Amino acid sequence: MTYSIRHYEAEDEQAVLALWNQCLPRDEISLNTFRRKIILDPNFDARGCFVATVKPQRGLQKEIVGFLLSIRRRYPYYDLGLEPGKGWITAFFVHPQWRRQHVATKLLIEAERFLKQEGTGRIFVSDYTPNYFIPGVDLDAYAESSLFLKENGYKKVENVYGMGRSLVDVNVPEEVNNVIKKLNESGFSVSVFHPSYTLKVLEFLRQNYPGDLFRVALERITENPECDEILVALKGDEVVGFSHFLDERFGPFGIHKEYNGRGLGPMLYYSTVQQMRKKGKHNLWLAWTSGRAKDFYHKLGLKVLRRHMIMKKNVGE
Ligand SMILES: CC(C)(COP(=O)(O)OP(=O)(O)OC[C@H]1O[C@@H](n2cnc3c(N)ncnc32)[C@H](O)[C@@H]1OP(=O)(O)O)[C@@H](O)C(=O)NCCC(=O)NCCS
Repeated sequence: MTYSIRHYEAEDEQAVLALWNQCLPRDEISLNTFRRKIILDPNFDARGCFVATVKPQRGLQKEIVGFLLSIRRRYPYYDLGLEPGKGWITAFFVHPQWRRQHVATKLLIEAERFLKQEGTGRIFVSDYTPNYFIPGVDLDAYAESSLFLKENGYKKVENVYGMGRSLVDVNVPEEVNNVIKKLNESGFSVSVFHPSYTLKVLEFLRQNYPGDLFRVALERITENPECDEILVALKGDEVVGFSHFLDERFGPFGIHKEYNGRGLGPMLYYSTVQQMRKKGKHNLWLAWTSGRAKDFYHKLGLKVLRRHMIMKKNVGE
């Protein structure tokens, strides 16, 4: 029995979903999420989405044993534009009984060919916004995927982490309270979002964090112009920081670079935590942080929940 590779078709939905949830137990999704984050993504292109099929017995329908989704921007992403040259592989998996038979390699070759044809030969796994599933290969849950990608010429770009903590025992440390007092004296404050901040928040994000942060703010405020799950750091009446949560998910979060290192980050963080607690949240988690931001969250008592590696390969443009 052998397998063949073809493009994804509308009828594959249920079979792909079932295989997804079997192969990615830490990242199970519903049909609704599958449709929303894949099929309804304006960048989705079935020419970049592949399945591996086998025909188990005569007369029976072909069975799907592998899946791989590659993406490039068909539409500009706010001020990030089309991110020319960049492509992503956001999900891939093979049925356990069909592993080590080069199914994933064949799927990958097809995706690389597609992305190259589209002029997006710098391929990342997978810091694609907004519809990423795992922000890089999970080094613990799916350790074999990083070995597979290395074997196929992908190299590490950076480590990124999912982190979290309980909110039940959060107390603002004395030294942070002192810093906050000094910041208040020098004109800095934090406020829950108010509609009168709308333009200033959007301009702040457009200039300092174009792309996904801007998108989150725009969508949340459009959906609810009085959204109280956004907080802003202010210097006088100028917006110099932004934080956001949705359910227990914390972030995105960003301070104006000019004001780094003054304690504004902890001040905005603790105010956000306070607001989350007021709204009945018991835990906080974030999906994706790295570098110095990871150390920042570590100091605030967050623990690493997931370890990921963003990987990259250049297949030419
Ligand atoms: C990662 C995965 C897709 C690989 O699929 P696959 O079809 O078995 O991969 P291939 O047969 O094409 O492997 C090609 C090469 O990669 C390396 N490789 C693949 N799986 C490996 C493993 N478990 N251990 C070590 N090396 C591995 C090997 O060098 C292999 O070549 P070889 O078999 O000739 O030695 C599959 O293991 C899987 O579905 N894992 C769970 C889901 C997942 O991790 N998805 C990624 C997150 S989105």
